[in-house]
Order: sequence, then structure tokens, then C-alpha cells
Amino acid sequence: MVIAIDGPAASGKGTLAKRLALHYRLPHLDTGLLYRAVALTLLDAERDLADADAAAAAARGLDPAFLADPRLRGSAMGEAASIVSAQPAVRAALLDWQRRFAGSAEGAVLDGRDIGTVVCPDAAVKLFVTASAEERARRRHRELGGRGEPVAYEAVLADILRRDARDADRAAAPLRVAEDAVVLDTTALDADAAFRAATDVVDGRGGARD
Ligand code: CDP
Ligand code: CDP
Repeated sequence: MVIAIDGPAASGKGTLAKRLALHYRLPHLDTGLLYRAVALTLLDAERDLADADAAAAAARGLDPAFLADPRLRGSAMGEAASIVSAQPAVRAALLDWQRRFAGSAEGAVLDGRDIGTVVCPDAAVKLFVTASAEERARRRHRELGGRGEPVAYEAVLADILRRDARDADRAAAPLRVAEDAVVLDTTALDADAAFRAATDVVDGRGGARD
């Protein structure tokens, strides 16, 4: 069973994807890490993020071991990832890899922006996780503070709005709700309530409980 989870920044899709993967004993791929890794490869090589040829080469040569690099996690890398991810050649280079992961025997949980629309259009379950921009900014603000990276709330909100607009307005695989996705608005839901709502959807489609 493939569970496709998409949504904007800090909607809680990664947290939900991890919990669903544990619950249903499926492998999980955070596809945002792939784009973050392409961006970090360019920054390490002192290349311009808008250099389409260098970005495509970095995507083609991506080493999966690199996905554990803690430098991928910061908010600056999220912004850089959103710049390189708008390039069609980067997306094309990462597509097969994601599809192979999704095709593993037992199934998989993938989260990102275009899983239900492009990477796994035939996924058994598609969830679009969202929340108001202000609530998402509060979550990310709290998260960054907890990690010892304090940033002003207004700056976090501005970053989220800019990234949402770039991800939704690009021509290549823009962020949008797949026709057959279930929308989970978590503005008023904590992570436990979002998990319960998601398992109700998955179990309704025949997902086995552990
Ligand atoms: O992966 P994405 O950027 O969509 O969000 P995340 O990193 O999974 O979640 C951002 C923060 O929101 C984390 O600190 C979560 O604990 C918190 N959160 C959540 O994941 N789900 C909710 N319904 C409420 C809060
Ligand atoms: O956790 P958060 O939502 O902040 O970021 P992420 O999921 O790690 O994604 C970082 C950036 O990568 C996004 O803003 C998108 O531009 C891009 N991305 C994408 O284009 N397609 C995906 N399937 C996943 C991420």
C-alpha cells in the first residue's frame, strides 16, 4: 500500500508520515530531503542555485547516504531547496528514484509536494495536509526555538508565505491538491488528532492495523 502525503511547509506532513510509517510498518521517504540535498551540494560546490545544469547534475549524482546530513534540516536549506526544485531537470532526475522507493514490495509512505499528483498518481491513499499560514508559522517558530535557532515569528511567516507561493506558482509539478486526495486541515488539530484522522482514512481504504 502506498500512502502519498502532500502539503505546504510546516503543515505537519513529515510528522504524520513518520507516524503512519511506524503504525503500518512501511518504509518512509521524506522527499523534501532530496531537494534539500541537491541545494546543499550546489552550495558546498559554491555554485549558483539557479545554475540549471549544475543542479541537474547534482540531482543525478545524489548519494542517498547524504540524506542523513544534519545541515539539510535548517530553514535556509528549505528556501534553497524550493529554488532548485522549480527546475524541471532536477525533478526529472529525482523521479525514478522516488518511484523505485514507492514500488518496494510492502508499499511505502512518501511525503512532499507532488507525491499524489506526479510521483505516485496511483497511490492507494492520498492525503493533503494543510493548516493556516499563521498556525504553520507558529509551529515552525516553536520548532526552531526548541532547536536553539531562534528566529522572529514575522520572519518565519514571511519565509513560509514566500515558499508556498514559489511552490504553488511554478510550472513543474506545482503544489496542488490531487483530485482524489483527502484534505486534512490541521489548523485546530494537534499531531495526535491529525494521526487519528489519517488512520481513519487509511483504514477506510483497507490498510491493515498493527
Ligand atoms: O513536514 P512539515 O514541514 O509539513 O511539518 P513537520 O516538520 O512535520 O511539523 C512541524 C511542527 O508542527 C512539528 O514540531 C510538529 O510537532 C508540529 N505539529 C504537527 O506536526 N502536527 C500538528 N497537527 C500540529 C503540530
Ligand atoms: O518541511 P518543509 O515543508 O518545510 O520542507 P520540505 O518538505 O523539506 O521541502 C523543501 C522544499 O523542497 C519545498 O519548499 C519544495 O520546494 C521542495 N519539494 C518539492 O518541490 N517537491 C517535493 N516532493 C518535496 C519538496
